[in-house]
Amino acid sequence: MSTVKLKSGRDATQPLTANEHLLKWVEKMAELTTPDDIHWIDGSQEEYQALCDMMVDSGTFIKLNEELWPGCYYARSDASDVARVEDRTYICSLSKDNAGPTNNWVNPFEMRKKLKDLFRGSMKGRTMYVLPFSMGPIGSPMSQIGVQLTDSAYAVVNMRIMARIGTAVIQEIEKDAKRVVPCLHSVGAPLAARQKDVLWPCNEDKYIVHFPETREIWSYGSGYGGNALLGKKCFALRIASNIARDEGWMAEHMLILGVEDPKGEKTYVAAAFPSACGKTNFSMLVPPAGFEGWKVWTVGDDIAWIKPDETGQLRAINPEAGFFGVAPGTSNHTNPNAMAALAKNTIFTNVALTPEGGVWWEGMTDQPPAECLDWKGNKWTPAIAKETGAKAAHPNSRFTAPASQCPTIDPAWEDPAGVPISAMLFGGRRATTMPLVYQAFNWTAGVYAGATMGSEMTAAAAGTIGQVRSDPMAMLPFCGYHMGDYFRHWIKMQRLVSSTPRVFHVNWFRKDADGKFMWPGFGENMRVLKWVVDRSRGRALGQETPIGWMPRYEDIEWNGLSYPKEKFNQLQHFDRAEWKKEVMNHEELFIKLHDHLPPEMVYERELLICRL
Ligand code: GTP
Ligand code: SPV
Ligand code: MN
Repeated sequence: MSTVKLKSGRDATQPLTANEHLLKWVEKMAELTTPDDIHWIDGSQEEYQALCDMMVDSGTFIKLNEELWPGCYYARSDASDVARVEDRTYICSLSKDNAGPTNNWVNPFEMRKKLKDLFRGSMKGRTMYVLPFSMGPIGSPMSQIGVQLTDSAYAVVNMRIMARIGTAVIQEIEKDAKRVVPCLHSVGAPLAARQKDVLWPCNEDKYIVHFPETREIWSYGSGYGGNALLGKKCFALRIASNIARDEGWMAEHMLILGVEDPKGEKTYVAAAFPSACGKTNFSMLVPPAGFEGWKVWTVGDDIAWIKPDETGQLRAINPEAGFFGVAPGTSNHTNPNAMAALAKNTIFTNVALTPEGGVWWEGMTDQPPAECLDWKGNKWTPAIAKETGAKAAHPNSRFTAPASQCPTIDPAWEDPAGVPISAMLFGGRRATTMPLVYQAFNWTAGVYAGATMGSEMTAAAAGTIGQVRSDPMAMLPFCGYHMGDYFRHWIKMQRLVSSTPRVFHVNWFRKDADGKFMWPGFGENMRVLKWVVDRSRGRALGQETPIGWMPRYEDIEWNGLSYPKEKFNQLQHFDRAEWKKEVMNHEELFIKLHDHLPPEMVYERELLICRL
């Protein structure tokens, strides 16, 4: 294999920089991994096209029907490489204590040795792409820069959608002393001479490794999502959470949206929900009937970097440039904005392929296609599905779409200064116990609500699905240091800001005795969002309960939806016995973290117990 030929005649093997640090590191990593070629990514459309064409030729990509899905490609991963691998993800800080009990840890010297063995010769027969990327708009004081070395063209083209990449980033690196985070990625499938490649190379053995002190990422064995697009969870959350703690800001698994009321007043809200628990959907919410004149604007759907400005106002940027969204359940009905965003120039992975050269997934249309190929390439029909239970699309199948294509993308989404945050939401997937919404009494109580969040596990990570686990601030798999210190950092942020955002807990997923969702969700979540905005601006009433402030039936805007008062009261019901059990579970996490747990968390717990 050799690097792709570019029509412009640019020789991609020629370094795009004279920066010695970068050149030396690339050379050293090439010596270790022994690729056949090195390709410097300039980020151009021409280069993107050449890489996509190359993958179409090799069969890794299928070009979708240009009439139906312009500029779109389809990929199927290996059946064993379909989600993040949390048990193979490591935080290798110098001391085990800094990683904390919620992270996997291995002594960094030992891990480096292990990684060197794994990476030795791992790119043989492949091209190593040198991919400079910026998380955050290029040049924003809140942005951070990385360079990913990868032997996966799939990772490169996805990263081009998810981040700002190429020549402009090289210029940033050369301009000042901005620190570059080195990210090494290999699918771990070297090719012997004349060995035919598979469509989705990967390795059974996977290592997603972070060195927080030296700010390095080494990822081995997987080509999928957060395992391989290293700017995303590895950098923008696990490494960035370390940088943020040191520098007094926050790197969070949060969407960012702006609510505009009919008078044009705009309020920005950030919300942390665990993986596959509704961030993308909420960030693109379409106000329902009864909310004429209201608009919801999308700033980000997965990650927020939040920092106090010189006046002490918290401001947030979306470090990403695209959406790597869950496909199943996405439809013109549930999320028309996502459907518009993914209508062109999108990469689909592990969804179903229709005979017309289109894509389909469960929930996309009421009527499934009469026949298609499922995410494994097998024939799928509704009858087969009924008989075998086979899904056409993998539950963690995803679309990679440019954020700029979202009809509700906020005019300020690339503002280098970020947007001001007035409220923060925490929410999990909880069939019981958790009401639709409550507001924490104050910042510390809000931090407690986030810290003690629980959620049912989803297909976004390999493992058991459906079991409730504690997932503090939706950061359990993403916090790059000790979770107790992370809570302390949250508490400390109060001193760095002029006023803290109001904090709320939401649950769109409560079920009734028949196992049905009690709340219609999606656009109807606007009714909760309006109460949140009004509370944050000090103009809505609520009722004090032991867990926090709750809206009464009459505090919610019901125009356009008939939702009976008794049902709402059930949905909001707070059960003392259930909550006492809940608080017992909080203790389990707190005991694990005890030697790093800020005292405020213990006080909050005691206050809550007293109120119960
Ligand atoms: P990650 O990208 O993994 O971080 O996920 P996410 O938090 O962005 O979740 P996403 O918005 O993609 O939603 C995941 C699944 O939850 C989809 O199948 C949605 O259809 C479903 N979902 C989202 N919002 C709601 C809601 O308000 N109610 C219900 N019942 N389901 C929802
Ligand atoms: C998540 O799992 O929270 C995701 C998908 O957003 S991944 O990029 O794979 O982490
Ligand atoms: Mn996510």
